[in-house]
Amino acid sequence: MESTSFIRFLFLILAAVVLLLFTRSWIHLPSPAADELDLLDCNRFSSWCTSKNRIQTKQTTPSSSSSTTRSASSSSAAVRDHSDDVPRHPLDPLTLREISAARSILLSQPPFSSSPSSVIFHTLTLSEPDKSSVEAWSKGSPLPARRASVVARFKGESYALTVDLASGALTTLPIPASGFPTMTIEDMSSSTWAPLSDAAFNSTVLARGVRLSDVACLPISPGWYGEKEEGRRLIKVQCYSAEGTANFYMRPIEGLTVLLDMDTKEVVSISEQGRGIPIPKSAGTEYRYEAVAGFNDDPPRLGLKPISIEQPAGPSFEVEEGGHMVRWAGWEFHLKADARAGVVVSRVRARDPDTGEWRGVMHKGFVSELFVPYMDPTDAWYFKTYMDAGEYGFGLQAMPLVPLNDCPRNAHYMDGVFAAADGI
Ligand SMILES: *[C@@H]1O[C@H](CO)[C@@H](O)[C@H](O)[C@H]1NC(C)=O
Repeated sequence: MESTSFIRFLFLILAAVVLLLFTRSWIHLPSPAADELDLLDCNRFSSWCTSKNRIQTKQTTPSSSSSTTRSASSSSAAVRDHSDDVPRHPLDPLTLREISAARSILLSQPPFSSSPSSVIFHTLTLSEPDKSSVEAWSKGSPLPARRASVVARFKGESYALTVDLASGALTTLPIPASGFPTMTIEDMSSSTWAPLSDAAFNSTVLARGVRLSDVACLPISPGWYGEKEEGRRLIKVQCYSAEGTANFYMRPIEGLTVLLDMDTKEVVSISEQGRGIPIPKSAGTEYRYEAVAGFNDDPPRLGLKPISIEQPAGPSFEVEEGGHMVRWAGWEFHLKADARAGVVVSRVRARDPDTGEWRGVMHKGFVSELFVPYMDPTDAWYFKTYMDAGEYGFGLQAMPLVPLNDCPRNAHYMDGVFAAADGI
C-alpha cells in the first residue's frame, strides 16, 4: 500500500541523515599548521572534510558579512546563493535575511545591546506557527507572522527568546533551572584544540609515544551522574593518533580523558588511565574505496564492474522551485533541514486513490533524539552517553552530499541554512 511505501521512503530519508551523522561526524584535523595543509585535501582525506569546511569557513567569513552563504565543498552539489531566498510556506525555515534581521533586533535591545559581541547564539531558527494556522493557510495567502526562536548565552546566563520579525518585539521565555543549551559548532571545534594549550596534556601525549602534530581530539559530553552541578560548561575530550591513517578512530590514545571548561578553554583535570595500553597500529586501517578496492585498476582488482540506477523518464518526485514542498506518488509534504533535528518532514498529505481527496497524515515528523549509552564502567567510557540531537545537533553534523557518490542521478539537493554562534 501507498502508506507503507511512504513510510519506507520517509525512513530512508531519515536513515540517510543519521548515517551521514554517524559515519562522518566528529572529525578534526590533527594540526592547524600550514605544513599540514595536504590533510585538507578532500580526495585523500575525505573523512576530514567536515571540519575542513567548518574551520576554513570560520576563518574566511568576515563576521560582519550577513549575506554570505556559508556552504559546502567544491565536490558537493552546486552551491546555491541563498541571499535572496523568500519564505513561501508557513513552515519554511528562516531565510538569510530573516536570520540577519532577528540577530539585529536582538542585539539592539537590552541587555544584549550593552555588549553585542558577547552574545552567543546556540539556536536561531523559525518559531513555527501553531498547527491550526498552518492548516488554515493556503497557497497564495499571506504567511502567518514570521518569528525567530532564539537560545542565546550572554555574560554566563542562558536566554530563551522569541523575536517577532515584523514588529521587532522581543519576548523572553522562562528557561530551565539547570542544564545548558546545545553546543555550537564553534564550541566543539575549539574544544578539540584547547588541550594543546596545557603543558601537562602535551607531556602525557608525548609519554604515550604520540607526536603532538598527530593528535586528533573529540569533545564528548560528560553526562551527569548525580554529582553537585558545577554551573560550568564542562566537556570531556578524548584523543587519537592520526599518524599514518585516514581513520584515526582506529588509533585511540585509550584511557586518556581531559576535562575542559568550554567557556574559558581551561583544562580542569586530566585522567590518564591508559599508560599500559598500546595505541593500535595504522596498518590495515585504510577503508576508502579508492585505496582498498583498486578503484583505478583496469580490470578492477576485485572484479567489480560499474553499476547504474536507471530512471529513463526522470524521477517521480517533484520539488517546488526554490521551495520545500515535495510531491511524490500521490503524496505531498514539506521538507527542511533543522540544526537540531536534522531532516524535518511536515504537513504530510496523501491523495485518497478512491475519492481523489487530500488527507492529512502527519503534521510533523523527525528523529527527536538518539541516545547511545556505552555501558562500560571504566573511567574513559562510563560517561559516554551521547544525546546526539540535543547536545551536538543532527543538522549541525550534516555534510555536503557528493553527487553520484552519495546519491544517484536525478537526486535533488536541498540546502540547509543555519546560523553560527555569532548569529550570522
Ligand atoms: C603543546 O603542543 C602544541 C603542538 O606542538 C604547541 O603548539 C603548544 O604550544 C604546546 N603547549 C604548551 C603549553 O607547551
